[in-house]
Amino acid sequence: MTSAQTITADAAGSWRLGDLTVHRMGFGAMRLTGSGAFDQGTPSDRGRVIGVLRRAVELGVNHIDTAAFYFSSLRSANELINRALAPYPDDLVITTKVGPGRGPSGEWLPWAAPEQLRGQVEENLRQLGRDQLDVVNLRWRGADSIAEHFGALAELRDAGLIRHLGLSNVGSGHLAEAQAIAPVVCVQNRYSLDSRRPGDDDLLRVCGEQGIAFVPFFAIAGEGREEGASRTEADEVLAVARAHGVTAAQVRLAWTLQRGPHVLAIPGTGNPDHLADNVAAGALRLSPQDLDRLESLGRMVAA
Ligand SMILES: NC(=O)c1ccc[n+]([C@@H]2O[C@H](COP(=O)([O-])OP(=O)(O)OC[C@H]3O[C@@H](n4cnc5c(N)ncnc54)[C@H](OP(=O)(O)O)[C@@H]3O)[C@@H](O)[C@H]2O)c1
Repeated sequence: MTSAQTITADAAGSWRLGDLTVHRMGFGAMRLTGSGAFDQGTPSDRGRVIGVLRRAVELGVNHIDTAAFYFSSLRSANELINRALAPYPDDLVITTKVGPGRGPSGEWLPWAAPEQLRGQVEENLRQLGRDQLDVVNLRWRGADSIAEHFGALAELRDAGLIRHLGLSNVGSGHLAEAQAIAPVVCVQNRYSLDSRRPGDDDLLRVCGEQGIAFVPFFAIAGEGREEGASRTEADEVLAVARAHGVTAAQVRLAWTLQRGPHVLAIPGTGNPDHLADNVAAGALRLSPQDLDRLESLGRMVAA
């Protein structure tokens, strides 16, 4: 920590993604490109969000999640990361994801076929200005086999374009399928104290047993999903927040981190004050009584 007032990302502890060590409190880049979901609304203020990225790194964040398809009419998350942070600090780990794709006008394209994944990986390399991507998640949809797609990414890893592979939006069966092809260092699924898919508590546990990071997205947004954080917060969350003198968002982040030492947080924000709050949440420790109180919110929602 840099001072009694400033809590830095190391307060949350560290975890290893393959041979790369990251602080468990990271940053998600999806909220940098504009208001509302990343592909809608007013483009963000460039100076403000570049400031958020630089401040995140000053605060010790060394794990940033992004995607080439995070762009609005005038902003691209990857371009902002490159502009704000290159030359990149040696310890910075940038995780990106492939599978979904968007055309130049922002329209969603059909899911990438296995042979199209190289193009998506190269697009990320160009935008981020790197010769190798630290971590690439295969972002999946539905129950189909991931074998062909994951096999294609494993070949790109063997060719040196990618250092480590991960999965996103998958079930336990997908994880086992992938592990038979190449090592998986992280699983990134939607997961929050009041909104998570059936099976994801088990998957989180299995990841821990195998030394794989579990990386929740929408930990703050919950059911608000792309639209963002809910304006109304559950009484249980508010009560725990009041007791600790923190915000509801901080309680949500602390809850996810306390699900296991292998759980990494990647809260997304374009707001510098929210960034500082989120990093500070890495120092918040919820008591067993707090966790009991929040447990009642763990209703399961269908995928
Ligand atoms: N693999 C996937 O399919 C997938 C899908 C979605 C997201 N992701 C990744 O996961 C990351 C996290 O998801 P996310 O950004 O949607 O959701 P999130 O971190 O759960 O929540 C972001 C929302 O909460 C607000 N917020 C953030 N910090 C806050 C704070 N301290 N107090 C109050 N409000 C706060 C943000 O608005 P402000 O900007 O106003 O702070 C935004 O509306 C993304 O950035 C992205 O990198 C991955």
